[in-house]
Amino acid sequence: MQSHLSNNRIEELLGKVCSSADFNRQQDTTIVVHDIPFLRERIRSVARAFPENSMHTIAIKANSLSGILGELKDQGFGLEAASWGELKIAEQSGYPPDKIVFDSPVKTYDELEYAMKKGIHINADSLMELERIAKLKEKIKSHSNIGLRINPQVGVGNISITSVAGNYSKFGVPMQERRQAIIQAYEKYPWLNGIHLHTGSQGCEPEMLVDGVRHVYKLAQEIQQKTSHQIVYFDIGGGLPVSYHRETEAYSMQYYADLLRESCPELFDGRYQLITEFGRYIHANAGFVASRVEYVKHDNGINTAMIHVGANMFIREAYHPQQWKHEFSLADPQGRIKTGETENPWIIAGPLCFAGDMIARNVSLPPAKEGDYIIVHDSGGYVLAMWSEYNSRQKPRAFGVKENGKVLMLS
Ligand SMILES: Cc1ncc(COP(=O)(O)O)c(C=O)c1O
Repeated sequence: MQSHLSNNRIEELLGKVCSSADFNRQQDTTIVVHDIPFLRERIRSVARAFPENSMHTIAIKANSLSGILGELKDQGFGLEAASWGELKIAEQSGYPPDKIVFDSPVKTYDELEYAMKKGIHINADSLMELERIAKLKEKIKSHSNIGLRINPQVGVGNISITSVAGNYSKFGVPMQERRQAIIQAYEKYPWLNGIHLHTGSQGCEPEMLVDGVRHVYKLAQEIQQKTSHQIVYFDIGGGLPVSYHRETEAYSMQYYADLLRESCPELFDGRYQLITEFGRYIHANAGFVASRVEYVKHDNGINTAMIHVGANMFIREAYHPQQWKHEFSLADPQGRIKTGETENPWIIAGPLCFAGDMIARNVSLPPAKEGDYIIVHDSGGYVLAMWSEYNSRQKPRAFGVKENGKVLMLS
């Protein structure tokens, strides 16, 4: 599996976008570019790694461009929607109800009723939410499958703010404290036919993800014994970390699935239907950001490249620079990546009105000039999707390049 887009491929994609009729050099000061064939291969690698009857969904939060989600629809995957807005995006992108999984820790009665009427798979985040679903079931007819999100409590991994399986988490029902209550819920609600977990995003090694699944799998076995085999859907969430460093090989989906098979073989023998919800693994390495260098400053022995995007799109990178790092290249105005002697240190600063608006500090780059482009590698997921409107800056446009070289405008 290819872990990253090569420089040659980035130049090719950038060249195609910049020469397309839709690109406007004056206005498109920052663009996000997605490699559609790369994305398709990531999707195929998920399908190859898990049993054929699995239901794979892509986490919309990683990349909510309906242009891209619509384009990927023919791959047979569904979507995981973590909010009402994402549910609407899934529908607008043409996904049928039976291809949508609705997760959110704060679903309202109205949202639940809507999803239940449509027959969308729902993962309840709490026992209280199950009670709401039970009340609605008395009122309306629904063939939605319903799961319950469990917090496996296996630890917080390397990045605590994106790990959700600590002893305390705002998500799910904690297994240790609530084991009996969870089992009783399955006894009480015979329609509760799914079980769900998500351990964390990016900061959890595959072994830790497997540990989380194993804990929930044991719980599911106990529930099966007590309720005469009522769980049909086993949703393992997402979370496989990707590599943001081009020298580092990423974990393959096959590696993760093999570990899982070793640890929980019955998850692979057809007695459950597996559901997956990967986001970062699908999108992050498949795209990059190119932002024009508007000015270059050389003060106090520091070089600063002033570009058009900062903490408004690279939120985690600006506020938690030790944990969230991308790699950068410099391209000339024609989109050719500059190589040769580098200078250090460079700061890459954004346009926003606060001092911390930097997406990189202390990086090595060849000498940058006005009109060059800073390329931010591995920016296809959790970047544009996290856009913030501060300073009323215009949201960058996104493009996709297809197998035949055709450029799609995605936003
Ligand atoms: C419930 C749930 N499922 C899936 C995902 C996707 O995780 P990742 O993009 O790391 O695969 C997340 C991410 O936060 C999540 O909260």
